[in-house]
Amino acid sequence: MEPEGREPSVLLVFAHPALERSRANTVLAESGKRAAGVRFHDLYELYPDFVIDVEAEQQRLLAHQVIALQFPFYWYSTPALMKEWLDLVWLHGFAYGKGGDRLKGKQLFVACTTGGPAQAYHQRGYNRFTMEEFLRPLEQTAELCGMTWENPFIVHAARLKDDAHIQGEADRYRQRLEGLAAAARETV
Ligand SMILES: Cc1cc2nc3c(=O)[nH]c(=O)nc-3n(C[C@H](O)[C@H](O)[C@H](O)COP(=O)(O)O)c2cc1C
Repeated sequence: MEPEGREPSVLLVFAHPALERSRANTVLAESGKRAAGVRFHDLYELYPDFVIDVEAEQQRLLAHQVIALQFPFYWYSTPALMKEWLDLVWLHGFAYGKGGDRLKGKQLFVACTTGGPAQAYHQRGYNRFTMEEFLRPLEQTAELCGMTWENPFIVHAARLKDDAHIQGEADRYRQRLEGLAAAARETV
């Protein structure tokens, strides 16, 4: 949400393929929608058939300073539609490569929930790697596009946490988004 007359500086790109079964992302998304300076953009709602309007998506990216990606961690990665969106929208000549500097100077911020607990995302945990390591492809995507990689927002063991904990995380998430939005407004 944004005070009248001012364009949001954060584009919150959301992907959850089974929102009717979601708890954590539903609560976080509600918080994100209410955050000042944030425009919420639900990929599975808009593109249930995976037919993405590439031109509209590129214009949307250009209109915002901060690109936030929110998703449940699926097989150590993003859900399929978010990957498809990256593949089709973040094109050579637009996002990277010759003439591809349109996202340069923007920020990339990832917010994701995991089923696994924090201790599993450790060299000696059952997932063997840290979240930082699993998110490297997105971090490097930001780098290739000349974007700044923001410290990700992670909620672990999302299905085990009680409602109060999830709500606390959602409040923290909203503050983080509003902080990014406010900082972005100062730089433009
Ligand atoms: C297809 C699928 C793949 C998943 N892969 C992972 C995974 O790689 N790592 C993990 O920690 N949790 C994984 N999970 C658990 C989800 O991340 C977890 O249920 C979700 O973050 C909870 O958020 P929600 O309540 O909004 O759905 C997976 C769940 C599904 C359905």
